[in-house]
Amino acid sequence: MAWSLGWKRWGFLQAVTSGSFFSSPWGHCPWRARGSFLDPEMRAFLEENTKVTSSGSLTPEIHLRLLTPKCKFWWERADLWPYGDPYWAIYWPGGQALSRYLLDNPDVVWGKSVLDLGSGCGATAIAAQMSGASRILANDIDPVAGMAITLNCELNHLSPFPILTKNILNLEQDQWDLVVLGDMLYDEALADSLHGWLKKCVHTFGTQVLIGDPGRSPCSGHSIWHELHKVAEYSLPEATRQQNNGLTTSAVWNFQP
Ligand SMILES: C[S@@+](CC[C@H](N)C(=O)[O-])C[C@H]1O[C@@H](n2cnc3c(N)ncnc32)[C@H](O)[C@@H]1O
Repeated sequence: MAWSLGWKRWGFLQAVTSGSFFSSPWGHCPWRARGSFLDPEMRAFLEENTKVTSSGSLTPEIHLRLLTPKCKFWWERADLWPYGDPYWAIYWPGGQALSRYLLDNPDVVWGKSVLDLGSGCGATAIAAQMSGASRILANDIDPVAGMAITLNCELNHLSPFPILTKNILNLEQDQWDLVVLGDMLYDEALADSLHGWLKKCVHTFGTQVLIGDPGRSPCSGHSIWHELHKVAEYSLPEATRQQNNGLTTSAVWNFQP
């Protein structure tokens, strides 16, 4: 059957459903991420190969273009996909919890400068904008995520905020009132870099750091967890549970080094 050879073979999604999160057989292939996020060809490709959805997540008020079982590439051979692994095409449980928290607690973001690091589909940056942040930067190393965030801003009738598709973990730090990260603790080396970078943010600028994460392996033993304090926990909707190997909850954590 077509589906047994299709989308479910994609490393990242297979890894989620099997519990071995993010063990892509492609690894990280920067050369696959061609084009810029202003590229009209990329825009047309994303519009054709994603579906607008607002149901099945913790934030039905945010509309997003995502890969769903109604999309050709959900079932198609992974090597026919012309870009890098589309992490941006999933609305991850950590991002869902974080976005819900920002929407329900606008005082946390109102009038503040907010960096959404590892923005993916851009939902958390969008939630920050909806809750009145004064300045937003959505950052993701994947240029295709940049295009997805642009499309998702338009979809929600928001004025576009800046999007940066560079690895800022190696750059000099800017001052932010709030840094938010959804589902970024999935890789030991990345968790190490983030841990050091976030500590510096807090100690240098007094930045508040909120992390959305369901607390699953493989990084659940990472030292950053000793400095995370739970501020909210949400029961995940059925559709998200099904896509995430039966995971039932996701939480928001305050980073206090
Ligand atoms: C699991 S996805 C989470 C996306 C989104 N925050 C959410 O919760 O739906 C992780 C995202 O982090 C991005 N990423 C990985 N390393 C990064 C880095 N060093 N800087 C910025 N983004 C990064 C990936 O491209 C991917 O879009």
